[in-house]
Amino acid sequence: MTRILANDGIHPTGQAKLEAAGYEVVTTKVAQEDLPAELPHYAAICVRSATKVRQDLIDQCPNLKAIGRGGVGLDNIDVDYARSKGIQVVNTPAASSRAVAELAFAHALSLTRFLHRANKEMRSEEADFKKLKKAYAGGVQLQGRTLGVIGLGRIGREAARIGLGLGMRVIGADPFVDHADVQLNIQGLDQQPSVRVASLPLKDLLAQADVVTLHVPSQDGKPVIGADEMKSVKQGAILINTARGGLIDEQALLDALASGQVAAAGLDVFTNEPTPDARLLSHERISISPHIGAATGEAQELIGLELADQLIDILGS
Ligand code: 3PG
Repeated sequence: MTRILANDGIHPTGQAKLEAAGYEVVTTKVAQEDLPAELPHYAAICVRSATKVRQDLIDQCPNLKAIGRGGVGLDNIDVDYARSKGIQVVNTPAASSRAVAELAFAHALSLTRFLHRANKEMRSEEADFKKLKKAYAGGVQLQGRTLGVIGLGRIGREAARIGLGLGMRVIGADPFVDHADVQLNIQGLDQQPSVRVASLPLKDLLAQADVVTLHVPSQDGKPVIGADEMKSVKQGAILINTARGGLIDEQALLDALASGQVAAAGLDVFTNEPTPDARLLSHERISISPHIGAATGEAQELIGLELADQLIDILGS
């Protein structure tokens, strides 16, 4: 029986679809260092971002036909090398867009109302309700503020849609397009209005946006907002990164928080995962989460099904 190793797991619905098509799906995690010995026994491997499929591992697996990435980012896979060896590499770019965009706003809303701190501090035995009420009195509303979306692909457009729904002015920055038409998807309307979001030079977006959210792939370790770009960020802006660690230079962010130029940041991704810089984790004005952008039941089910369809196509049913 053809075997598929789902090394970072797969939603049960996707697994069931593969099994119904006649494949054996193994979901027991194989440690990275044991993969060279184990993976040659499989026709395909499915991964999320945890398992790395690099050139040396690919070289050990002459019978591997497919690598499925359940999710968007392919930076943990040597894609070109795999393809040069005749291995098909597929991902599921659309399935998790909403989940990632919603998480960006979870961070933004948490920061504008200090929820990331109130949740922690109110539980403490020494918590003084009245003092905390006063401490967190200076909230701001997102309505009427400017949202800057860096990257106007699927996730970026989803973030733009949510921002528009909240009554924000939305601008984008994307070198590949000069605008994006974002359909609002309002429940109950037959005809959906759409709003044109302009793509500006990055510097202009940074100068205007009250909330900046990044939705671009890894840039081979180079930051999109490094120390230089940080100088253009609007005083008191909030920066959100649910895309890839390092897209905002972490030291430049800490410096901008210290100077007050950046009011707060929401980070789901970090340069040094799974052991991020402790200064980011303990910072009072950073809302943190452990790379859970795509981690909703809905997204994982869609991912599992899309992956199953693609693997069945490649491997033959
Ligand atoms: C992605 O690239 O799809 C997201 O970063 C999610 O990664 P994960 O599947 O490891 O949660």
